[in-house]
Amino acid sequence: MLVQRKSISAKLLSLLVFLQAALIVTGGSVRLTGSGLGCPTWPECTPGSYTPIPNQAEGQLHAWIEFGNRLLTFVLFFCALAVVIIAIRKSKIAENKQRIRSLAGLQVLGILGQGILGGITVLTDLHPLTVASHYMLSIFLIAGAISLRYELIGKKTQEVEGVIKFFVPVLVWLTLLVLIAGTVVTGTGPHAGDEKAERFGFDPRTVSWIHADLVVALIVATLILLIVARQMGSKEIGKRLAVFLIIILAQGLIGYIQYFTGLPEGLVAAHLVGSTLVWGWVWSLAKIAQSGFKLQRFT
Ligand code: HEM
Repeated sequence: MLVQRKSISAKLLSLLVFLQAALIVTGGSVRLTGSGLGCPTWPECTPGSYTPIPNQAEGQLHAWIEFGNRLLTFVLFFCALAVVIIAIRKSKIAENKQRIRSLAGLQVLGILGQGILGGITVLTDLHPLTVASHYMLSIFLIAGAISLRYELIGKKTQEVEGVIKFFVPVLVWLTLLVLIAGTVVTGTGPHAGDEKAERFGFDPRTVSWIHADLVVALIVATLILLIVARQMGSKEIGKRLAVFLIIILAQGLIGYIQYFTGLPEGLVAAHLVGSTLVWGWVWSLAKIAQSGFKLQRFT
């Protein structure tokens, strides 16, 4: 263990994971409150000022919601810088020094990328492709932050073999597909962030059902793996899989309710929070299972 579990460094590593996920939720609230163009330009909030100004045409509330989201990126940036310093100091004698340092460096680069992508999102009037890329970049950054935390703090691992070794990465890939499909549903749906914003133009019903069908496949795969893990006596993995199953069932339920009730903002926000939980859990599962999941630079 390179970093003690209860130290300030460990807390900063956890904070980084939390803030990466929080950015998804604050970004979503920008969209759900129709504040996507609350600051109509970038990097300035409004021409001539980096911060919202009194009597801004877009409305104070929208301007501050969008500006608040931009501010969180700064907090995240400083947190990532602190983590880079921790990573450099603590990895001096570590075998996996290069990996630890690359993971930390990628966090900083990724956040800079988010800032630029945020700017492109505003300048393209919230094009759904840039909004979706913004979400997916956050997903990779959450994975990177979790991996870094595991590298530095250590982990309770369980080497797995056979079907489990094969299926854990399948769960990760399936989850990734569910998330990508989700962003397509969002880019097709009504919560664009501004009336001016373009939409993908797909049939909402079709894309929602593709998204939901992938979720069903994920649930079935998780259930099979859970049964196998129980039979093979893989206790740690079995426990984690059972919790994962509960999380995806709950998230699926929110998904169906929001779909059949006309996408109320509160439920859509809960679905967003749920998506970060689903992803964080499956990624941690892959780390714990030491399943040979390969995305070497990111794991
Ligand atoms: C494991 C389960 C699920 C996960 C991880 C998940 C994940 C996601 C994600 C990541 C998004 C896009 C969020 C964004 O881009 O801001 C999304 C949107 C959406 N999901 Fe799911 N989803 C799940 C289950 C379901 C189910 C079963 C349905 C039922 C039809 C559903 C319906 C929707 C709808 C309608 C949207 C668009 C919401 C909007 O307009 O913003 N989801 N989901």
